[in-house]
Amino acid sequence: MLDIQKIRAEFPILSQTVNGKPLVYFDNGATSQKPQIVIDAIAKYYQEINANIHRGVHTLSQLATDAYEISRGKVQHHINAKFAHEVLFTSGTTHGINLVTNGFASILKPGDEVIVSSLEHHSNIVPWQMLCEKTGAVLRVIPINEDGELIMEAYESLLSEKTKVVTVNHISNALGIINPIKYIIEKAHAVGAAVLIDGAQAVPHLKPDVQDLDCDFYAFSGHKMCGPTGTGILYGKEAWLNKLPPYQGGGEMIKEVTFEKTTYADLPHKFEAGTPNIAGGIVLGTAIDYLNTVGFENIQKQEEELLAHATKSLLEIEGLKIYGTGKNKASVVSFNIDGIHPYDIGSIIDKLGIAVRTGHHCAQPIMNFFCIPGTIRASFSFYNTKEEIDLMVEAVKKAKTMLS
Ligand code: ALA
Repeated sequence: MLDIQKIRAEFPILSQTVNGKPLVYFDNGATSQKPQIVIDAIAKYYQEINANIHRGVHTLSQLATDAYEISRGKVQHHINAKFAHEVLFTSGTTHGINLVTNGFASILKPGDEVIVSSLEHHSNIVPWQMLCEKTGAVLRVIPINEDGELIMEAYESLLSEKTKVVTVNHISNALGIINPIKYIIEKAHAVGAAVLIDGAQAVPHLKPDVQDLDCDFYAFSGHKMCGPTGTGILYGKEAWLNKLPPYQGGGEMIKEVTFEKTTYADLPHKFEAGTPNIAGGIVLGTAIDYLNTVGFENIQKQEEELLAHATKSLLEIEGLKIYGTGKNKASVVSFNIDGIHPYDIGSIIDKLGIAVRTGHHCAQPIMNFFCIPGTIRASFSFYNTKEEIDLMVEAVKKAKTMLS
């Protein structure tokens, strides 16, 4: 069992008041809060070893380089990648996805097909649309059912020898639905397609095993898993990363530069042009250590309880509808109240100290499917409590009364 009060004390922001009320932070799907150990590690980097990496023989540069590569190794072990050079540092999930779509621009031909799902965040739709426009490839979309689950029969009927890439999120940011990605990957591989998994919403809740999943790419952000903003990881299988051209040209990604021809560095440096977010990359390792100390089994247990409590309590409010009612869910509840705009509820409960996200959650196709402008999304982390959920439910009731 987790000692939640002890854990909460490790996150300084959680003891704040907002609008004169104790902060209830339920916008973890947008970004998680940071424990003191992560905040301290950022300061420690700048106080003690700040220097550019892979560039100097001097001691500080060596220390920073070592810390950066140690962090890469931590990520490798965390996601069970076969090689450290399959782990690329990025600025976040969006960067990782764009790195891959940019690479596929030289691979896809007119008439090839890319399958995305209706559950995607815009960051895993728009780059693929741009790629299709550039190459003449065709975008196909896996539909969802009323519970917000992907329709697997429809997916399987979309697959053919034309399918070159399949991409889905591990967990939907807007609804919290957990997708059957292992099955999706297996079916895609059976027709020779590569698979990219958007793991942004999964990594705060679970430890992905990229070898077991057998995905070709797995992209995620650091800031949703207690790490700093501007950090992320793109895992790619060695063979794919060798095949894809570099994303950006610049320093550190080359072997040799002449005006006649430039040759590129080996992995992972081929994809890491320019000075990266050094402090962020190092401290992402600290965040991963922290989460592993809390333990993903404990995290899941706590979050399952929060999800069950929130679902039950919210459904007691008349006229409240939850979107994303599939069985396999992460700790996210997306809801609306009959006849009331989600933004209005969100604004009122903010005055009561409750932080939720309202709107389309960068997933407009989902909102279009349900014919709604958006939802109120409460996304829970292991450091949240049932008492906080009760405060939210009371606040929603109050807002409903005011707006009805
Ligand atoms: N993708 C983040 C969210 O779902 C920002 O809120």
